[in-house]
Amino acid sequence: MADVIQVKELARSYRMGSVEVPALRGVNFRIGVGEMVAIMGPSGSGKSTLLNLLGCLDRPTGGHYYLAGEDVSRKTSDELAEIRNARIGFVFQNYNLLPQLTALENVELPLIYRGLRAGERRRLAESALGAVGLMDRRNHRPMELSGGQQQRVGIARALAGAPDVILADEPTGNLDTASGEEVLRLFEELHASGRTVLLVTHDEEVAHHCGRILRLRDGVQIGDEALSEPLRSKSGAREVDA
Ligand SMILES: Nc1ncnc2c1ncn2[C@@H]1O[C@H](COP(=O)(O)OP(=O)(O)OP(=O)(O)O)[C@@H](O)[C@H]1O
Ligand SMILES: [Mg+2]
Repeated sequence: MADVIQVKELARSYRMGSVEVPALRGVNFRIGVGEMVAIMGPSGSGKSTLLNLLGCLDRPTGGHYYLAGEDVSRKTSDELAEIRNARIGFVFQNYNLLPQLTALENVELPLIYRGLRAGERRRLAESALGAVGLMDRRNHRPMELSGGQQQRVGIARALAGAPDVILADEPTGNLDTASGEEVLRLFEELHASGRTVLLVTHDEEVAHHCGRILRLRDGVQIGDEALSEPLRSKSGAREVDA
């Protein structure tokens, strides 16, 4: 299995005045193409710090990050922005949708930076919204959607550019149980169709839907567990909004 991600002694500390706060203290792992992996750990253990590094939203202060074989650890922020746009789909806990844009426009937005023609952008965005079951809501603004629907728009936006890897930081953290399960089912479908998915979660139940769990504590990796039989959401239960 080819690796899409490899990190070696990856570290990130934050400077607070004269003090260095080590958030991540040298972690090592590989993620293969098509894996679905949960990152777990107590509050403050470095999960978001790690995901932001993997998502090229931030740069390490030590070690190396190879994304699709390329060392991206020392790229400039402009270079990282390009890599992020081409290779990463990021899903946020609070959705991060632009309130003045429709669902479809939100999904199209990252494609604009790729220099795609309007027609091609529209086609990719509609296809991604269709994949999350929201074509009938494409002209709604975020305020006119439920939390679960907003998160599905967030997932469509992450998907539309066919990224190498989809990263999600507590994607079900703001959702009620039913909407959370819906979103989780969507990640399972993406995984089943061959996408690589990494998600940060506090919830053991959510993590057990993944094939593997990486555990952090105090910025150190303390576990890497392969699940032989991940939990599966009940198939066919997904209700596409009428
Ligand atoms: N921008 C920052 N400046 C200074 N310290 C930070 C910053 N971001 C995170 N930290 C510190 O780094 C450590 C790891 O934070 P991080 O946000 O990665 O934790 P987390 O595992 O995602 O926690 P949570 O479950 O609460 O989201 C914490 O001690 C935190 O206080
Ligand atoms: Mg966090």
